[in-house]
Amino acid sequence: MEKLIVEGGVALQGTVRISGAKNAALPLIAATLLAPGRHRLGNVPNLRDTRTFLKLMENLGVRHERLGDVLTIDSTDLRSAEAPYDLVKTMRASVLVLGPLLTRMGKAKVSMPGGCAIGARPINFHITGLEKLGATCRLERGYVDAEIDGRLQGDTVYFDIPTVTGTENLLMAAVLAEGTTILKNAAREPEIANLIDMLTGMGARIEGRNTDRLTIHGVDELRPADCDIIPDRIEAGTYLIAIAATGGEGTITHCNPAHLPSLLEKLRLTGLIVDEGDSTVSIRWPKTKPRSLKSVDIKTMPYPGYPTDLQAQFMALMALSTDVCVITETIFENRFMHVAELQRMGADIRIDGHSCVINGHGLQGLSGAQVMATDLRASSSLVIAGLAASGRTEISRIYHLERGYENLVEKLTGLGARVWKEQE
Ligand code: EPZ
Repeated sequence: MEKLIVEGGVALQGTVRISGAKNAALPLIAATLLAPGRHRLGNVPNLRDTRTFLKLMENLGVRHERLGDVLTIDSTDLRSAEAPYDLVKTMRASVLVLGPLLTRMGKAKVSMPGGCAIGARPINFHITGLEKLGATCRLERGYVDAEIDGRLQGDTVYFDIPTVTGTENLLMAAVLAEGTTILKNAAREPEIANLIDMLTGMGARIEGRNTDRLTIHGVDELRPADCDIIPDRIEAGTYLIAIAATGGEGTITHCNPAHLPSLLEKLRLTGLIVDEGDSTVSIRWPKTKPRSLKSVDIKTMPYPGYPTDLQAQFMALMALSTDVCVITETIFENRFMHVAELQRMGADIRIDGHSCVINGHGLQGLSGAQVMATDLRASSSLVIAGLAASGRTEISRIYHLERGYENLVEKLTGLGARVWKEQE
């Protein structure tokens, strides 16, 4: 296995290009199952998770080829409707083939994802939603066995929690159903609007884009898609926080500032200067000396609230602030795995149920250490802490990082960071 070495103390400077969004690429690749023929997806990031998802699609009979960031996908000849455990266990998002497979093949056998570091990750809302549309779902031997005799029937589905992949699965099940489906308390993340745009381009009829109420009028068939993946707002936020944490200044490009409403405001509240362009965001420190970061509370919420996927990263930044703040995690039950590792680097953090109290010790508050990555976003908070710390940090199990950050070492060294990989 590899580890990442970070020599801290360098102020990041310059520009970094943001890649396509992992959490848009996965549902959009799944949606190609809905129509035979050759689909084209642009701005597709080359990540461990997209490669895993494409392996799963190959299992089903899908052919694909990549030319740069353009993915051509042909789902004409499907030979299986099963997503096996050995693939699903490494990536929970595999559940996204459930809705489109059931729609296309009339059946789907998808391994239950199982839990992960951040929580139990149940899929009950996916299942009850599909059953509401007429599917029969049996849970046995760790698999969801779903089938429908004929077409799914449009109906109203209410989500107790605005589940992102649950909304995506039900969207993909409803577009070819008989009649009209209404999704209530649907998730409003930008990745869902990206999926709606792709499905509409394929001939689907969907109303309520960007709202929590989606109305889908079923059609008889769909045609292959030609769609670009939106920029990755979580990658964008991660680099903005990294630049800030090192006392640097820089610009992220090929992003969509409108997808980061909460983070940009929170960064401004710390005293940083954040300027938005059409597809760029620049961040820098004010000229006042001595430099100091105000402590700012955050509470993770469904979009457009503060994203849970940027909670760990902001916590690393707040360890460098001058006062006390509270970070509350409302989406997942166990998303503080990074705290113990940050504490090893000198961060003064106390967990209190679903909240953490962070007592900032200023910009020199962290020192390098050997730490371990536990999940994708926790590992990016350790990178940020290592970049801001004095001395060397060694981060093990960096396969977590490679799931969601394309060309991480190249992008960071392009900003002047001293980071490299070594064998464990
Ligand atoms: C998506 O996960 C993202 N993954 C996650 O990003 C992200 O953290 C999450 O949304 C929240 O924004 C992808 O899009 C591939 P949820 P998802 O269903 O859809 C509970 C990353 O780092 N719930 O919106 O799995 C669930 O336990 C990943 O890129 C049920 O109880 O999240 C959680 O508490 C991590 N039953 C809450 O709802 C269900 O059937 C929100 O989960 C579904 C969800």
